[in-house]
Amino acid sequence: MIELRNISKSFAGRQILDDVSVLFEKGKTNLVIGGSGSGKTVLMKCMVGLLEPDHGHIFYDRRDFSGMDLDERKPIRKEIGMVFQGGALFDSMTVEENVMFPLSMFTSMSIAEKRERVTFCLQRVSLNNVNNLSTSELSGGMKKRVAIARAIALNPRYLFCDEPNSGLDPQTAIVIDNLIREITEEFNITTVINTHDMNSVMELGYKVLFLYKGKKWWEGDAEGIFRTDNKDLNEFVFASKLLRGMKK
Ligand SMILES: Nc1ncnc2c1ncn2[C@@H]1O[C@H](COP(=O)(O)OP(=O)(O)OP(=O)(O)O)[C@@H](O)[C@H]1O
Ligand SMILES: [Mg+2]
Repeated sequence: MIELRNISKSFAGRQILDDVSVLFEKGKTNLVIGGSGSGKTVLMKCMVGLLEPDHGHIFYDRRDFSGMDLDERKPIRKEIGMVFQGGALFDSMTVEENVMFPLSMFTSMSIAEKRERVTFCLQRVSLNNVNNLSTSELSGGMKKRVAIARAIALNPRYLFCDEPNSGLDPQTAIVIDNLIREITEEFNITTVINTHDMNSVMELGYKVLFLYKGKKWWEGDAEGIFRTDNKDLNEFVFASKLLRGMKK
């Protein structure tokens, strides 16, 4: 469980996040949705400590992350897996080296143990016999899988995915969404996903936070989105005529 309490963040006097409070549940896929520039990535960066919020608190299973210094944060950081917007694999490394990276950073496992763990994680995302490929030889969907394998290498309690299926065709996007949901449930992870893909919202929207101009504008589940009177959420969701036809 991750709890955000009153998170605010400004850059050069421009308020990007404004008093955001929300609770993300364990073993579930929690979504943050909102238009481009609404603050999704900034919020995620605040959650993992890549940015410091100006105000507010972030609790990881009741541990106050925001009140900790870098050393105190280390144990929590080890429990965090992240899939960055755009994949962010290391291009100069092989698939195996990419997935092994967090194991080398954070554990004292032997090389044999690390190899075994890497192969387990790659198999979990249905990638076999690709250990020695260079990441430049992979398709977009395979890169996302490698990024997920790397994110789960340390058995995370918390998984953050920033636009995990951007740039993928709709079918591959669904495969990646399903994979994230399965892993979340199987390993009882608190997963937070940034997306503006409505398909993902329907597939994964156990808990949905709608950000609008940096504010929590609506909170609910995928079902609730179709019943809400929130004008801005409706405009965001039903921007395409096709979806508008689905609303009763
Ligand atoms: N380091 C930074 N310094 C100054 N402004 C920033 C910084 N990072 C983000 N911003 C601004 O904060 C706002 C929110 O950006 P953010 O990346 O969180 O949007 P987003 O919701 O993730 O959008 P997208 O869907 O396009 O990824 C934008 O106006 C952006 O320019
Ligand atoms: Mg973003």
